Amino acid sequence: MDQNILIIEDDLLSQKLHAKIVEKAGYKVTLANDGLEGLLKADEQEFDLIISDVMMPNLDGYQTCKRLRENPKTAQIPILLLTALDNLESKIKGFEAGADDYLSKPYEPDELMARVSVLLRRAATPATPLQVREQLGRVISVFSLRGGVGISTVASNLAVGLSQLWGQETALVDLALTSGQAALMLNLPLRNTWADLARIEVDEIDQEVVGQTLRPHPSGVQVLSAPRRVEESELVDAEKVQRVLEILQQSYDYVVIDLPHIFSDLALVALDISDEILVVLAPELASVRSSALALEVFDTLGYDDKKVHLILNWIFERQGLPKPDIEAGLGREIRMVIPHASDLFVRAINFGTPPTLENPDSPLGAIFENMAFAVSKAEQKSQRPENPTEAWKRLAKRMRKQRR
Ligand SMILES: Nc1ncnc2c1ncn2[C@@H]1O[C@H](COP(=O)(O)OP(=O)(O)OP(=O)(O)O)[C@@H](O)[C@H]1O
Ligand SMILES: [Mg+2]
Repeated sequence: MDQNILIIEDDLLSQKLHAKIVEKAGYKVTLANDGLEGLLKADEQEFDLIISDVMMPNLDGYQTCKRLRENPKTAQIPILLLTALDNLESKIKGFEAGADDYLSKPYEPDELMARVSVLLRRAATPATPLQVREQLGRVISVFSLRGGVGISTVASNLAVGLSQLWGQETALVDLALTSGQAALMLNLPLRNTWADLARIEVDEIDQEVVGQTLRPHPSGVQVLSAPRRVEESELVDAEKVQRVLEILQQSYDYVVIDLPHIFSDLALVALDISDEILVVLAPELASVRSSALALEVFDTLGYDDKKVHLILNWIFERQGLPKPDIEAGLGREIRMVIPHASDLFVRAINFGTPPTLENPDSPLGAIFENMAFAVSKAEQKSQRPENPTEAWKRLAKRMRKQRR
């Protein structure tokens, strides 16, 4: 095993400790005493993985990580951050800086080596080139004109649900570019993002480039993440979004899009190309009003009523507007209701494990499985698959029960 690992650590005792553990596992080790030295060495030599301390003078671990990601030579190297703090804030900071994983000190040597080997294995898996299919995939957008109603929650769980249900190629596209959370919700590193596609010309965007930009999630979903930094999102224009979505539509069975809360050019491109739009609303006046507005715009755009569906999400615990009142107000039926479920959702956000995956037998997992089925291709819904997945069997059982 000739794999070379760079360890960036200012504390000499810790440095020795990490080095000993890593060398004992059979890897070659190079040491750097601080972030700057780490950047230099990473630029001069070839590394398979970088382990970096977070708290260091001058350039801390987050800044080092950001700089490594900005340099094309080191942008793809897996990075594991080590920190004394075990809290969500530092996890998010590390994640935004582009780290792949995160371990709090003190750690067990076995734990460190387990993470290292997972990261190395993941890096060694080549991006699967996208293949053009005969039939276009089904594109489903999740939208609301109001923030915080659960768009990202629905989009990520729906994508996982679809992938589990059919075992087919499913992509999750985060188009909430300035506040994207899809990757965070699924605990994926922000290595490749829309920013990579924004930097190249639109006619250079092809199956290969798009395939390399998506990141695989253990559920089978491939995720196209929002950029790490807000400035980078400005480089993404409607023409590029159109091109990327067309490629995804040709190469995936299902494409789920997490949309921003405005009718921007980008959002319109996505809404146009979508076969189905799920408008999520909370049981409160402001959310109902903004949904009415959205429905009006869809009408003006000439979208078929069958393309747009309402999902009521009980994001809060207190009493809200009754469903029949909302339906009467909007002159539309609500297709699905998501009950309030704070524990599970908070867990999902903190651990990047959507209930659909973590807890498929829970009522909430079932709701997203049902939702996935509801938005699936008609021809798929009408017959038993040749090799039904576990999710499909669960769903069929629930349906049989309901019919009785
Ligand atoms: N049914 C629910 N029960 C309890 N909490 C929920 C529910 N749905 C969503 N949430 C929580 O509400 C918050 C907002 O959800 P989410 O981030 O999915 O919304 P969003 O519309 O994408 O927001 P943003 O405007 O930030 O993009 C999250 O903390 C999420 O965990
Ligand atoms: Mg969101």
